[in-house]
Amino acid sequence: YQTIKKAREVGQVNPSIRKDINKVVDFIDIEDITEKASLCRCWRSKNWPYCDGAHGAHNKATGDNTGPVVVRHKEN
Ligand code: FES
Repeated sequence: YQTIKKAREVGQVNPSIRKDINKVVDFIDIEDITEKASLCRCWRSKNWPYCDGAHGAHNKATGDNTGPVVVRHKEN
């Protein structure tokens, strides 16, 4: 908890994901997305880089309005 609190104090958007590396970069092959993929933008997901709904608690606690980006196949 102290780490998350300190991260917020200095303005970091990422409180806990892979803090042992300099930059969090993820690659997702488009071929591996079957119907759609919801990608986290709140940095609170425990299933990073995918959204697990944690943005709801974050938004409620902070008054923020974050949500995922949904990548999907275009419907014909
Ligand atoms: Fe982060 Fe949904 S859990 S956007």
